[in-house]
Amino acid sequence: MLRGTFTRRGALSAAAGVVGAGVTVRLADAATPHASHQHGGVPAATVDPEVNGFDPSVILRDFDRGKTRKLAGGRTLREWEIVASDKDIEVIPGVRYAAWTYNGRVPGPTLRAREGDLLRIRFINAGTHPHTIHFHGIHSAVMDGTPGVGPGEIEVGKEFTYEFEARPAGLHLYHCHAMPLATHIAKGLYGTFIIDPPEGRAAADELVMVQNAFDTDFDDDNEVYAVNTVAFHFMHEPVRVRRDELVRIYLVNIVELDPINSFHVHGNFFHRYPTGTSAEPTEYTDTVIQGQGQRDVLELRFPSTGLYMFHAHKTEFAALGWMGFFEVAE
Ligand code: CU
Ligand code: CU
Repeated sequence: MLRGTFTRRGALSAAAGVVGAGVTVRLADAATPHASHQHGGVPAATVDPEVNGFDPSVILRDFDRGKTRKLAGGRTLREWEIVASDKDIEVIPGVRYAAWTYNGRVPGPTLRAREGDLLRIRFINAGTHPHTIHFHGIHSAVMDGTPGVGPGEIEVGKEFTYEFEARPAGLHLYHCHAMPLATHIAKGLYGTFIIDPPEGRAAADELVMVQNAFDTDFDDDNEVYAVNTVAFHFMHEPVRVRRDELVRIYLVNIVELDPINSFHVHGNFFHRYPTGTSAEPTEYTDTVIQGQGQRDVLELRFPSTGLYMFHAHKTEFAALGWMGFFEVAE
């Protein structure tokens, strides 16, 4: 619909005015929804969750632990059903994108298990192209979801059940690995895969943030950047957290077509646990850089109430949608 009108350059030049003017203009002076998609900048509202059938704010805290039962010997079996299908989604008000989805959402469901669980994922391809699910983690070649290995690409209308043990503990991801790989990822076939350590982690307000982007005019350059798909969403719907409560962010970068992405938080510092595989943080900082497929567990507490921005410190991405607020309350 908007092919050719919503360009990266156009969005950026308009964003320079809105973003450069600072937070106070974010809602009151923002462009009308109609104008915003043509000229970029912070739109007047976020996408109605009814339109997409999913809500970036809900995705933050939506953990899918599957259907579980105990096996003989006490081990837990977790089962999921994941369906790939084509679906038009709105990535900024007025801009639709012909996505490929797992279970109708981008990112797909956040699958969560405990180290040592047996996982069984029934994958059904109801899309229009061959797809797979390639999990990060340790498993056998035939369960790797790679073309030419084991079942390879799952053809349209076919299904396959992936089965493997959950290991190692950490923050992982899954995505389609059908060819061309860049297309199958860029279209939206990815999700977060969390394996909790056997002893668990300290109680916290846990948030899943998947950094993604969309090439809405098919020029091999992204026009829209976001966390959990909808650009600027958390400008309108700040992430609400409590003062002094431990906040744990599962941060994943799946952006295609750009070599790096980054996360920066205002007025605070966090502990960084790369890939979530160690109990000891490697860094105390306020900015992380991630390549595609890279992920970090971040832990922080906000000592004071108020609004604190978070955004890509690849600031061009911030101007194109990758920015939002934490709202810290008592
Ligand atoms: Cu695919
Ligand atoms: Cu990967």
